[in-house]
Amino acid sequence: MKIAVFASGQGSNFLAIQQAIEERRLVAEIVCVVSDHPDAPVIDKAKAHGIAVFAFNPKSFSSKAAYEAAIRNEVKGYGAQWLVLAGYMRIIGTTLLAAYPGRIVNIHPSLLPKYKGKDALGQALAAQETRFGVSVHYVDATLDGGPIIRQASFIPQADANREAIEAQLHQIEHHLYVDVLIALSKEDL
Ligand code: GRF
Repeated sequence: MKIAVFASGQGSNFLAIQQAIEERRLVAEIVCVVSDHPDAPVIDKAKAHGIAVFAFNPKSFSSKAAYEAAIRNEVKGYGAQWLVLAGYMRIIGTTLLAAYPGRIVNIHPSLLPKYKGKDALGQALAAQETRFGVSVHYVDATLDGGPIIRQASFIPQADANREAIEAQLHQIEHHLYVDVLIALSKEDL
C-alpha cells in the first residue's frame, strides 16, 4: 500500500502512521508528504524519516486545478495508491478526486456529520457536548463530507479542560487512523 500523506500542520498523525509502518503493524509505505505550507512542522518530520516532500504555495499557481495537477503528477510519480489527509486544510478538488476515485481518506476531530470545518472541538464545546470523538471518512468534493469509515468517541471527565480533551482526541486519532489504514491495506473495509 503506497500512501501519500497530505498535511499542513504538526504532523502527529503522519508520525503515528509512519511509526505503525516502522513497527510493521501496517504494511505500507509513505512515498511522499504533500503540504500546502512550505514551513509546516510536518515537513521536517517527514525529512527526518527520509520521506520525500512536495511542499507548494497555492498562491504561486494560477488555479486550484493547476496546483492539484502538480500534486497529481508528483504523487503519481511516487506511485502513490492512496491519498491520506491528516490535517490538510484544503477541500480536495475534481482533479485529485478524478485521479484517485474512492482512494482518498481524511480524519476529522468530530463525530461527523456534526461540526465540520475549522475548530471542530470549539464547535462541540460551544454546543455543550458531553461526548467527543473523531471520524475517518472517504473524501468527496464537500467539506468533511463523504462516507464515514469509522468513528471513535469518549466522554471526558467532568473537570477536563479543552487541552485535556484535545490531547485525548489526538490520541484517539492516531489509533483510529492506523486501524483504518491497516483494514484498507488488507482490503477488508
Ligand atoms: C488533526 O486533529 C486532524 O483531525 C485535523 O487536523 C489535525 C492534524 O493534526 N484534520 P496533526 O498535524 O496530525 O498533528
